[in-house]
Amino acid sequence: MSNEKATLSVGDKTIELPIYSGSEGPDVVDVRSLVQQGLFTYDPGFVSTAACESAITFIDGAKGILLHRGYPIDQLAENADYLEVCYLLLHGELPTPEEDERFRTTVNNHTMIHDQMSHFFNGFRRDAHPMAIMCGVVGALSAFYHDTMDMTDEHEREIAAFRLVAKMPTIAAMCYKYSMGQPFMFPRNNLSYAENFLQMMFATPCEEYTANPVIAKAMDRIFILHADHEQNASTSTVRLAGSTGANPFACIASGIAALWGPAHGGANEAVLTMLGEIGDESRIEEYVAKAKDKDDPFRLMGFGHRVYKNFDPRAKVMRETCHEVLKELGLEDDPLFKMAQKLEKIALEDEYFVQRKLYPNVDFYSGIILKAIGIPTSMFTVIFALSRTIGWFAHWNEMVSTSYRIGRPRQLYTGPSKRDYPKKK
Ligand code: CMC
Repeated sequence: MSNEKATLSVGDKTIELPIYSGSEGPDVVDVRSLVQQGLFTYDPGFVSTAACESAITFIDGAKGILLHRGYPIDQLAENADYLEVCYLLLHGELPTPEEDERFRTTVNNHTMIHDQMSHFFNGFRRDAHPMAIMCGVVGALSAFYHDTMDMTDEHEREIAAFRLVAKMPTIAAMCYKYSMGQPFMFPRNNLSYAENFLQMMFATPCEEYTANPVIAKAMDRIFILHADHEQNASTSTVRLAGSTGANPFACIASGIAALWGPAHGGANEAVLTMLGEIGDESRIEEYVAKAKDKDDPFRLMGFGHRVYKNFDPRAKVMRETCHEVLKELGLEDDPLFKMAQKLEKIALEDEYFVQRKLYPNVDFYSGIILKAIGIPTSMFTVIFALSRTIGWFAHWNEMVSTSYRIGRPRQLYTGPSKRDYPKKK
């Protein structure tokens, strides 16, 4: 806390508000005492509101910086793998070789789901969206583990983290297999996290699947680049749900629901739907014009970000990986991917996008990579949810291991004032 105070004058009242400085980022004004003065702050969309203190992730949107526990995302993507990033997010430090070994072994020991859970899938229609299935099945994990879990115990919380990180790829692949009418594939614990996921997606009992190393690396990068992103809509949802004392499995299910929307995690799916709609390079100009037209609700999916007003550092890494994958699969001349590249170029040069700092975001490139790998668009957000689970969990864990209050925003009420119910004749 600094000695500096902000002064707010309202009518004849002068209110002094403490100012706090974090290790990075803007100072915050502590407005908690305003309620005692009969005032609320008004900030729809939480554009200027810090709702919590956190030591996990830092973003400087203007400079295009993303740090997890202090480490820049591009360095993590280059040097670490997803499980190492999971350990870092959860524990605050990179693992020693012994810790790393123990962490991987424990995650591997939890990859299977309770056999009874596989019956849940039959309750869903075959054409159900995999996000709907994932939301339900992850919420159902509470039915298996809630009663045995003491949330005040650090060790038990860690076991919940192992369960979630280990089981999410299994559940995600089961969502896919169910929609395809193919048998579920068991996890293979001798494979890496990314290879195992690809194996559960693409192998069948009649045919083995060996992951191409370029594809496995790209998959792992997608996991890393989506692992956490500070207090975004889904993470804030997880924190809010967790602030009521709900169990972590239910909280993660609420995060999955919040992620689903096209303004958040649904954007990677929306990118591909948009490219399909555009259909041909010759129509790109028309769609760019639509995106710029204020009377048209259409937006270019995969462009723009609430926080980044510079190139999203994740998108930089993802762009590189995208080119590696397209080259490896010989898809550089595929019409869809050529169209994506042309759209990227136009948007990066167009005055409207340049002025508003609307750069391609991480979902623009991840959608293209996933499509090239052969993953159906309906699975894109499921893969985002799988990757983000560790971020959600780390935030939930940070909150419950410190003192916290139930989240309860206030409102600016604009409805009718008190009125009497009309007398019945
Ligand atoms: N296409 C066309 N115009 C846009 C776009 C876009 N994709 N994004 C923003 N704008 C315009 C918007 O119309 C506004 O213009 P003006 O100032 O003339 O009114 C200006 O840019 C600022 O936009 P905003 O709506 O105030 O920005 P926001 O911070 O509320 O929204 C966003 C951020 C990501 C929801 C938005 O950029 C968007 O809808 N993008 C497309 C969806 C998308 O790709 N979402 C994934 C985000 S990254 C993944 C994640 O973190 O979940």
